[in-house]
Amino acid sequence: MKNNEDILRRGRLSAAKSEEINAFTSSLQADRWIFPSDIMVDEAHTAMLAKQGVIVKKDAAAILKALGKIEKAGVDAIDIQAFEDVHMAIESNLIRSAGEDVGGRMHSGRSRNDEVITCVRISARKELLGLMADLLELRKALVSLATGNVATVMPGFTHLQHAQPTTLAHQLMAHASAFDRDFERLIDAYRFININPLGSAAFASTGYPLDREYTTKLLGFDRPMDNSMDGVSSRDFILTTISAIAILETDLSRLADELVLWGTPEFGFVELDDAYASTSSIMPQKKNPDILELIRGRTGTVIGHMVAAFTIVKGLPYSYNSDLQEVTPQLLRSFEISRSSVRIMAGAVSTLKINKKEMARKSTMGFTTATEIADTIVRSTGLPFRTAHGIVGRLARGDGNPSLQDVDQASMDMIGKKLSTMGLTEKALEEAKDPMKNVQRRSVLGGPAKETVTKKIAAEKERLKTDEKAASDLGKKQEKAQGELAKAVEAIIKG
Ligand code: ARG
Repeated sequence: MKNNEDILRRGRLSAAKSEEINAFTSSLQADRWIFPSDIMVDEAHTAMLAKQGVIVKKDAAAILKALGKIEKAGVDAIDIQAFEDVHMAIESNLIRSAGEDVGGRMHSGRSRNDEVITCVRISARKELLGLMADLLELRKALVSLATGNVATVMPGFTHLQHAQPTTLAHQLMAHASAFDRDFERLIDAYRFININPLGSAAFASTGYPLDREYTTKLLGFDRPMDNSMDGVSSRDFILTTISAIAILETDLSRLADELVLWGTPEFGFVELDDAYASTSSIMPQKKNPDILELIRGRTGTVIGHMVAAFTIVKGLPYSYNSDLQEVTPQLLRSFEISRSSVRIMAGAVSTLKINKKEMARKSTMGFTTATEIADTIVRSTGLPFRTAHGIVGRLARGDGNPSLQDVDQASMDMIGKKLSTMGLTEKALEEAKDPMKNVQRRSVLGGPAKETVTKKIAAEKERLKTDEKAASDLGKKQEKAQGELAKAVEAIIKG
């Protein structure tokens, strides 16, 4: 492009940018992402300018027609690389097709500073709705796997040491609970995203009589931002969103990590479906959980994006600085990673093979019933828990399957009395050593007992319905606004 054809630079600057500088200043990846949003923003702004009489209806009609063509031709047709960014590419293409006397009026009362961040908010909320839908699927997959495993006993761990028996359903629902809160954080993030900065212009708003409520309605925002300097300067909605995504990824990573562990022969609890596994280029026997490792690994990348976003923003004076351009790709990449990770995890969970036998076999390994034996001693003999804890601790030096004689021996050593003379029976001891009975005793709210987890699963299913509706309502509101925008555009074009 010759400098005099460059509608942005031709007035103020006499030399064109070198290719290297052009590439350096370009926001290509994020610009491709916001292209559809930019068309919407251009349309809403133009419709509003016409409604306010800032531009005449005839010019608005020609602009909107040309924008329709640009949208239809798609992002590849506007040759973003040849321009500073997507905004200049669209406007230049518009001017080329509608002429400067018409197309040159679209950017009245607007700056790329408010334009870009309006576009980012529109693209982000769409992506966020997509992520919510993906997360709903993962939560459903966990619930459905849990439903069939409320009686699947397995060892629970603390410090990665065998601790107490629990059930697979109890542990899966623990992860589901974390994802519930992740979903809630996404809903929260949506509120911060969905406010309208358009009309802030460069930062000081404009002398044109803009109707910001009108663009707010056409673009499906909840309300206009009420300080134009805040409108172009703030990126806290990105920090909120990216933080919520980083937490979600962290929860995902812990689940991935657990499944990697459980898939080793040392655990032998689960096996990934072959479609979710890889093999080795040298060791023909290997079945590797690469996807889980990459989910875990990319969590590091997302946390990096979060830190990058905070670091870029934290030292910036108000209002717009080009540094802000660098924040958008952090968000975009975080969306890309989290959406694919969540989807792939949902698939891995719903195709996971469970080795119930091995879980059951290992559920008493490492004397996991020790706590219940101590509790049983308390219930049968009236001894304080701390004393019972000491006696069972002494028993833990044995093979993990103590008889009543062993218990008496230990209690003689510790307190000089036999528990069998104080009310502890063979039957009570045997029950305490049964892992499923251990689980069933733990029926306190939140515990692993079958009935308790079954209730939790039922509540979770209700919650999924509510969350699904919340996300779909947000989506419907967007669709409705898009319909209104399309109608407003059509009305102007038709005259
Ligand atoms: N490409 C820019 C961004 O992503 C658009 C805003 C540019 N504004 C400016 N004054 N240079 O932030």
